Amino acid sequence: MHDRKAITGFPLVVEPLLSTMSKEGKNTRRMPAPFEEYPLDDIKKDMINNDLPLIPDVSEVETVRHFTRLSRLNYGIDDGIYPLGSCTMKYNPKICEEIASRVKDIHPADKKAMVDILRILIDLSKNFEEICGMDASTLWGAAGAHGELTGMLIIKKALETKGEVRSKVLIPDTAHGTNPASCAIAGFNTVQIPSGKNGYLKASTLKDYIDHDVAALMITNPNTLGIFEQEIACIAELIHNNGSYLYMDGANLNAILGTSRPGDMGVDCLHLNLHKTFASPHGGGGPGSGPVLVKRQLSPYLPLPWITPDKKGLYKLKWDSPTSIGRIHSGMGNLAVLLKAFAYILSLGPDGLKEVSRVATLNANYLKARLSKSFDLPYNTPTLHEFVLTDKYQKAHGVTTMDMAKALIEFGIHPPTVYFPLVVNGAIMIEPTETEPLAELKRFADVMETIAIMAKDSPHVFKNMPSTSPVCRLDEVWAARHLILTWNMIESNKKVVVSK
Ligand SMILES: Cc1ncc(COP(=O)(O)O)c(C=O)c1O
Repeated sequence: MHDRKAITGFPLVVEPLLSTMSKEGKNTRRMPAPFEEYPLDDIKKDMINNDLPLIPDVSEVETVRHFTRLSRLNYGIDDGIYPLGSCTMKYNPKICEEIASRVKDIHPADKKAMVDILRILIDLSKNFEEICGMDASTLWGAAGAHGELTGMLIIKKALETKGEVRSKVLIPDTAHGTNPASCAIAGFNTVQIPSGKNGYLKASTLKDYIDHDVAALMITNPNTLGIFEQEIACIAELIHNNGSYLYMDGANLNAILGTSRPGDMGVDCLHLNLHKTFASPHGGGGPGSGPVLVKRQLSPYLPLPWITPDKKGLYKLKWDSPTSIGRIHSGMGNLAVLLKAFAYILSLGPDGLKEVSRVATLNANYLKARLSKSFDLPYNTPTLHEFVLTDKYQKAHGVTTMDMAKALIEFGIHPPTVYFPLVVNGAIMIEPTETEPLAELKRFADVMETIAIMAKDSPHVFKNMPSTSPVCRLDEVWAARHLILTWNMIESNKKVVVSK
């Protein structure tokens, strides 16, 4: 028999829902009833909603304390290391937030301010183009996956313009899941190519997959094993000789920032994840941004609007072009994220950007050197900003990657990415990023080593971990079988009921 409380860990969460604290009359600062102060004569009767919204009746002090207590249950990058591989959960300088937040007071009708913003965006584009060795770009992509989709639509349009029908995109098996999804949404079929035993794509393997139906190769560099694609120049040549395009998932740019440029590798089109590399939080931290950069021959297809100079040397938005793929986002993309990236690039300068990728690589390699003594390292190829371990040694004692991730929570540390990339069994994917000080790296390594010792000496303790966190160890299979997806508040008795 399952005890639901034990499974969900709710006994430890002492914080009830606001709606369960609700009692009529507690909230003394009511908003005026709808339309109390406004004449109703001009509004059609059937358009008036007389029901008050189901807002819990709680006092201000209860509400403030509720949310303050909830906020203390969080773990974020401002608390400690957050080594989620592939996600680049790094500390983002507060000065960038501060600068971006000033723009919120600008009104779109303020022409002078808008021209200044367009100038900033042009400068930002030029910076990205210089950093990546590309010729032109768009800033309107809203995320990494959105950038991928935009890039593939650009490639599709370029092929159509040439009168070519090509339906396939080749993608290595180490790719992020968004890669095949974006290609499929753009109308392509995807073909998975196996990476070599060293963890990178071999040109000799690629050769077997190339034919005249191949529109593009979508490759991530460095890939999700943290390995630089060592045969990229040869791969680019093969792809171009076939009349296909080389698309690069540039989400891992933080590993090569200032040290090597996708354009120089032969890449025709790539996207960046500003919410990984350029000063915005990734993963639930708010909107992202996925600028797309292209070589000159793809620039006519970039999405609208284009920022162009007018006769007076000022900037304006150009809204029409017969060659463009059209609009992909309203307004001017996620402007605050773009401004944070601009502030970040200017504050670091060329040397600072180079330092980012160097320290990200150094930090990851420090951890790899220490942890590969206690954990299985499936690929011995040199890695950059992240690396992948497995649970092979610990599994011999019945302790899995999931058990160790849960144990890390017990030690007050956010776990790394687990079970990704899919090419590695029991993967533990670690990306410390450049912003972690040595002391924090050491603390993480000490805890991981302790966990490896515990797995050998007392494997039974893992199954109840974490036991001290607000939510304890969940029975994930039970939870999947007994889905509770919504909370419904029944107004009549102000009771919270669970619907299945
Ligand atoms: C390598 C790689 N590609 C693509 C993406 C997708 O980016 P997004 O989550 O912004 O859509 C990510 C996200 O972390 C990534 O790490």
